[in-house]
Amino acid sequence: MRTIDLRSDTVTLPTEEMMLSMMDAELGDDVSREDPTVNRLEELAAKRFGTEGALFTPSGTQSNLISVMVHCKKGDEMIVESDAHIYYYEVGGMSAVAGVIPRLIRGKMGVFTPEQVIGAIRGKDLHFPPSTLVEIENTHNRAGGTVWTPGAVSTVGKTAHELGMKVHVDGARIFNAAVALHVDVEEYAKHVDSISFCLSKGLSAPVGSLIVGSSAFIERARKTRKMLGGGMRQAGILAAPGIIALTKMVDRLKEDHDNAKRLARGLKGLDKVKVDMKTVQTNIVLVDVAPTGLDSSQFVGKLKKSGILVADFGNGKVRFVTHRGITAEDIDETIGRVECLM
Ligand SMILES: Cc1ncc(COP(=O)(O)O)c(C=O)c1O
Repeated sequence: MRTIDLRSDTVTLPTEEMMLSMMDAELGDDVSREDPTVNRLEELAAKRFGTEGALFTPSGTQSNLISVMVHCKKGDEMIVESDAHIYYYEVGGMSAVAGVIPRLIRGKMGVFTPEQVIGAIRGKDLHFPPSTLVEIENTHNRAGGTVWTPGAVSTVGKTAHELGMKVHVDGARIFNAAVALHVDVEEYAKHVDSISFCLSKGLSAPVGSLIVGSSAFIERARKTRKMLGGGMRQAGILAAPGIIALTKMVDRLKEDHDNAKRLARGLKGLDKVKVDMKTVQTNIVLVDVAPTGLDSSQFVGKLKKSGILVADFGNGKVRFVTHRGITAEDIDETIGRVECLM
């Protein structure tokens, strides 16, 4: 039986072209900024986002942590959506390492409003920590890969800036958002102070993430990356597939979105699980398995026995993620196997 792995788009393997690019990459010591391949990747990323600079890092988690450390000082407060990856899945680094406390607000499908930001600021009273950063996650993972429009980012960004705060976007999957809305990522970057994005998810590179922002921000981010042990030497072997990810893999994300919709419609049609089609905007399908009478971990276990791998999201929710390793036939096969289990 063929295994169909829908746990995450992080399971994508590099393409053959990516593997070959690693062999051919021109290398140097990137800590001294002498790796021409890393320099090229950073220039490409900055150009694509319309920012002054970009920085290559080992992971999305480190990119987010660096950004928080540059924007905030210890004891500051950061306004963040209550299910955001940085709060939920990054081992508490924003507090444990950056010394920043989260002020949680609940979004609607991961998206919150300027009014909610204003409501979350506690003011200048002696007792309160300063609110210095707003974090946006686009697409929003736990909400089901939901998209912030550039308009929504712009209004929150404008309010935050008027209140003297910075704005960081965890854009691990920002290219999914841009492809879904047919907009350029530049449309997001112009309203915020930094964006991190991952090369190693739907874009299929083996490793890496970038942060984009102003020259001053990137200069401080580079120093912070070094402090965190993220200064890599001949990192061009990782940047080379990253260049292919950025230049050749963005448009194909639409296939993943089409497959996610196909999967969502098929599963919904089984009448045994619930799927909120409003949330199926990119490559993630959140499924409510409560009507099956199984809890989410039992459901995941049962699917695993039939060769379908998915992620347990708790509270009766299971996440299916489409990616380059998944075809439309795999989707139909998945729907068929789920049907047999019900
Ligand atoms: C929204 C979001 N942000 C950040 C990350 C962290 O990326 P990494 O696994 O490269 O640390 C992920 C990873 O899945 C993610 O989904």
